[in-house]
Amino acid sequence: MLRRFGAPVALAGILVLAACSSTSSGTTSSSGGSSSSSSGGSSSGGTDGGSDGGTTLYTRLGGNTGIKGAVDAIVADEVKDPTIAAFFGDNVKSPPPAGTPTVDQIKACLVNQLGNAAGGPEKYPGTPADSAGFQCRDMKTAHTGLGISSDIFDKFVTIAAGTLKRLGVADADIATIGGVLNGTKTSIVE
Ligand code: HEM
Repeated sequence: MLRRFGAPVALAGILVLAACSSTSSGTTSSSGGSSSSSSGGSSSGGTDGGSDGGTTLYTRLGGNTGIKGAVDAIVADEVKDPTIAAFFGDNVKSPPPAGTPTVDQIKACLVNQLGNAAGGPEKYPGTPADSAGFQCRDMKTAHTGLGISSDIFDKFVTIAAGTLKRLGVADADIATIGGVLNGTKTSIVE
């Protein structure tokens, strides 16, 4: 199932912010299904997106490795939009201000969040193994004070959906993931 994100993701990863060093080696888990959700008002946690010929959303996305690639590609596409990129001004500093996550740390959190929501073994919030012990926060805590409007939020989700489409994710799965992202809206928009 890693095939789906293989080549395009390797390319997209190169486009990710120059300030980010991609250090994740990643453990692959493609068995899926053993969801253990500990939501913190963030991801809706623990949907497998329905079954499709015996697969789960998690396995269709290529497990942890596939989701990592998708997150790399999504972030690369998001920051092509100057309005969205502006929100990450502190995160691309080297080092970022105290208490501010690096882009790699944000991505590691996103992988855990989406993996968890897709029915994988990842936990969210929590501490991703591959991001220097950064403790991912719940959606409200992570976004409070950023002043993210409803329009910006919707644009962010639309860009993410476009990336997933380009990577070959099925429309039904994009709709499921879109539902997970949209489920965070009330915690993020202010
Ligand atoms: C669409 C749903 C979204 C999800 C699922 C999401 C997810 C995340 C995650 C997992 C983190 C890292 C958690 C942490 O810092 O502890 C994070 C941080 C962040 N997100 Fe989002 N996010 C979303 C929308 C947005 C939007 C629309 C923007 C702005 C355009 C945004 C800007 C940020 C910024 C700037 C940070 C870093 C906060 C800081 O420096 O403390 N996010 N997001």
